[in-house]
Amino acid sequence: MPAQSTQEHSVLIRNRKPWHGMPGELFGRQDVFETDLDIFFYRHWILVGVTADVPEPGDVSTIDIGRASILIVRDDDEQVRAFRNTCRHRGARLKEPGKSTVGMLVCPYHQWTYDLSGELRHTSHMGTEFESKCKSLRPVHLKVVGGLIFVCLSEEAPEDIATLESTMAPRLAPYDLTHAKIAFESEIIENGNWKLVLENNRECYHCAGTHPELTASFLPEDFGFCEAGLTEQGRQALAEYRTRITAANASWDRDGLISSPVEHLDTDVTTLFRTQRLVIAGHGESQTMDTKVASTRLLGDASRRDLGDTHLWTHSSWSHVMSDHAVISYCIPLAPDKTLVRSKWLVHPDAVEGVDYDVETLKAVWVATNAQDASLVAITHQGTQDPGYEPGPFSQFTESYVEKFSRWYAARLAAHGV
Ligand code: FES
Ligand SMILES: [Fe+2]
Repeated sequence: MPAQSTQEHSVLIRNRKPWHGMPGELFGRQDVFETDLDIFFYRHWILVGVTADVPEPGDVSTIDIGRASILIVRDDDEQVRAFRNTCRHRGARLKEPGKSTVGMLVCPYHQWTYDLSGELRHTSHMGTEFESKCKSLRPVHLKVVGGLIFVCLSEEAPEDIATLESTMAPRLAPYDLTHAKIAFESEIIENGNWKLVLENNRECYHCAGTHPELTASFLPEDFGFCEAGLTEQGRQALAEYRTRITAANASWDRDGLISSPVEHLDTDVTTLFRTQRLVIAGHGESQTMDTKVASTRLLGDASRRDLGDTHLWTHSSWSHVMSDHAVISYCIPLAPDKTLVRSKWLVHPDAVEGVDYDVETLKAVWVATNAQDASLVAITHQGTQDPGYEPGPFSQFTESYVEKFSRWYAARLAAHGV
């Protein structure tokens, strides 16, 4: 066994050279994967869906996260709740992953029956002494922010979700995603470690070379550029970019629309996030192939089409909210080299398919982008597992958010004693 493979997780991450990639073992090792799941997916707030997953009372969305599984339920009072998906009798799973609609939650094993608020309502053969009220489903910490569902599986949930909430709630409120509907969903399994999925998501260095659909509307300059060595054409493009940004921000300011960036990415934060209202290229309306809205029925009370892209990054998700639709994506690690990525396209609840929007047009950019990113993650995972791999340097201009993610990852491990 190579000497390196016996190194502790903590040693591997602390030995990472600043502004360099992580050692390959942090992506490939089973023990690292399990520690990551435990810390980053069981003890931090994670995005696991949208309220549109459970639009009506009785709707259930079941999500597996490692060995854990949770039920997101809309109860009879329209409240969204989250429970552990394990029966209080002998532990059977109540629901398979996916969506369903129920009157009550009935365990398939001995039919213990819970209502939608999690209370145990019916058991047979348990005798008169049995105290069913102590056997409600175990609740999971839940926070709904502008229609996005965050959960935390630990006993004590990090309190700084409040900062994400106070930042995002006013930015998302005008879009009323709480009442939006899902027009399309996709699920892909990327053949790479979850940290490579995130690293890839935190830079647009690769966008110009790999994402022709996305870069029609997305401006990679938003996440850094290096002016040195630009061609005349490149300098001109940069000048146009700056003019566009200045004009868009001034116009949003006039309408009282918040656009400024907020970054909670440092090593002292628990709940990592970044947001900003980003400018859209071309016609400036939406992340579509022609950069115009895909749905003519705008979200919420939007009155202008050029609302930009209010993006939100967390440590396991990335979302883009535009005037006409939103794309919400999150990941869940499945194995050291397998990561599930779920994406949901939201539109106004009254938008009619074939009249107000066309699903192919709506999903084209991010279906293509997700597939391209999946192949980039797969080749990178493979390369980092090669005995000849040596972590290389990040660009200080275009990969600063990858560096920030790597530092935050190390700090959170340390905070949990790793
Ligand atoms: S395990 Fe659920 S009713 Fe027995
Ligand atoms: Fe990408």
